[in-house]
Amino acid sequence: MEKISIKGGKPLFGQVKISGSKNSSLAILASCLLTDKKISIYGVPKLTDTFFFLELLSSFGVKVEGLKNFKNVDKFVLSAKKITNFNAPYNLVKKMRASILVLGPLLARTGKATVSLPGGCSIGLRPVDIHLKSLEKLGARISIEKGYINAVAPKGLRGNKIIFPKVSVGATVNVLMASVLAKGTTEIYNVAKEPEIEDLGLCLKSMGAKIDGLGTSKITVDGVSKLKETSHRVMFDRIEAGTYALAVAIAGGEIELIGAKKKLLTFFLNILESIGVEYIVTDKSIIFKKRSNSLNPVDIITEPYPGFPTDLQAQLMAVMSMSNGTSVITENIFENRFMHAPELIRMGAKIKLKGNLAIVEGVKKLKGAEVMATDLRASVSLVLAGLAAEGTTNIDRIYHIDRGYQDIVKKLQICGANINRIEV
Ligand code: EPZ
Repeated sequence: MEKISIKGGKPLFGQVKISGSKNSSLAILASCLLTDKKISIYGVPKLTDTFFFLELLSSFGVKVEGLKNFKNVDKFVLSAKKITNFNAPYNLVKKMRASILVLGPLLARTGKATVSLPGGCSIGLRPVDIHLKSLEKLGARISIEKGYINAVAPKGLRGNKIIFPKVSVGATVNVLMASVLAKGTTEIYNVAKEPEIEDLGLCLKSMGAKIDGLGTSKITVDGVSKLKETSHRVMFDRIEAGTYALAVAIAGGEIELIGAKKKLLTFFLNILESIGVEYIVTDKSIIFKKRSNSLNPVDIITEPYPGFPTDLQAQLMAVMSMSNGTSVITENIFENRFMHAPELIRMGAKIKLKGNLAIVEGVKKLKGAEVMATDLRASVSLVLAGLAAEGTTNIDRIYHIDRGYQDIVKKLQICGANINRIEV
């Protein structure tokens, strides 16, 4: 069993190469199911989530060039020439909820798909009702039996007008991919505007899909019968970049994030400036520097893009636990995304939880402690706290962190942090 051990108190100086976006990669890898042509994807981050997803695609009969050398390749060539299996089993889906993203493309390409209900996770129930109702609007017949989603569309999918009751990244991904091969036009209203959706859309358009409105809340798709081969480089991971920017906020110092782009972080950069981190944009990076020794409090509400991303909420809470005032954090996306709070409190943070509100009263010092990761972003908020805490912090269940942060220990060691993986 491994833990991450951090001896806090060292500021960060150096460069971090930001990896490709996990969430964009998962959607774009799924798009290979839409065609029998080869899709070459560059910049997929080397994470347990992306590895599992490639394994899942292989289980459908997709040839994945590069999988055997997963850690060392920058390009994966996916060829779904012949789909031999239409079932995403529970044992794979439970390891990686994003497996639900194969439902739309499998259904659109083959007319059938059986995908295990992903079930909830520690941050919430994570229902998929919007995915299913929308696919039914496209003509799919869907039933739920023994924990599995059985979807059929023997005559193929037909374009329709779909209005999402709430913004859902996953439902937008599934329905966008399904509509690409549907007969006729699909109009999808109230879609997610996350940059990862735009990245997927650009990849689909490079395959010959007819999509309008990417980046807006209404997307129009004119279905096509076939897609062609393409090559696509995945965008940078804006959540990884935001995480390292917040690492400078809490630990101090100055780091250059190679590959980070201001355009996709604007709202977050304003928050960083208000708490006391300045940044300089270069043509290939963004340099973050802590302005002074103190951090200002800030109130945030997590919202769909371009609002404050829920995936940076845990990291900001760790930083605000050392501000010189009180911050109010409202989590509006997931119903149980404060699991990091009790662990931060064990390190001396002063946090009161009231429903979806966290009131964080800044303290002068956090103390190193034995803590436990509960989910991907909670785990990295404990790393941030450990970087600044007095003494040593040991973080257990770090398999969570390996799901979303490629080489995080190495990247922080290069910037001078006293951080190691230890065998326990
Ligand atoms: C995606 O999850 C991301 N995962 C999440 O990142 C991210 O936090 C989330 O979007 C919000 O930005 C991937 O892209 C693989 P949603 P997703 O559908 O698609 C409710 C990380 O840390 N909802 O936008 O599951 C849902 O319960 C992960 O990288 C329904 O009610 O999120 C939530 O309250 C965590 N019915 C809200 O919508 C549905 O059918 C937003 O969820 C679907 C969602």
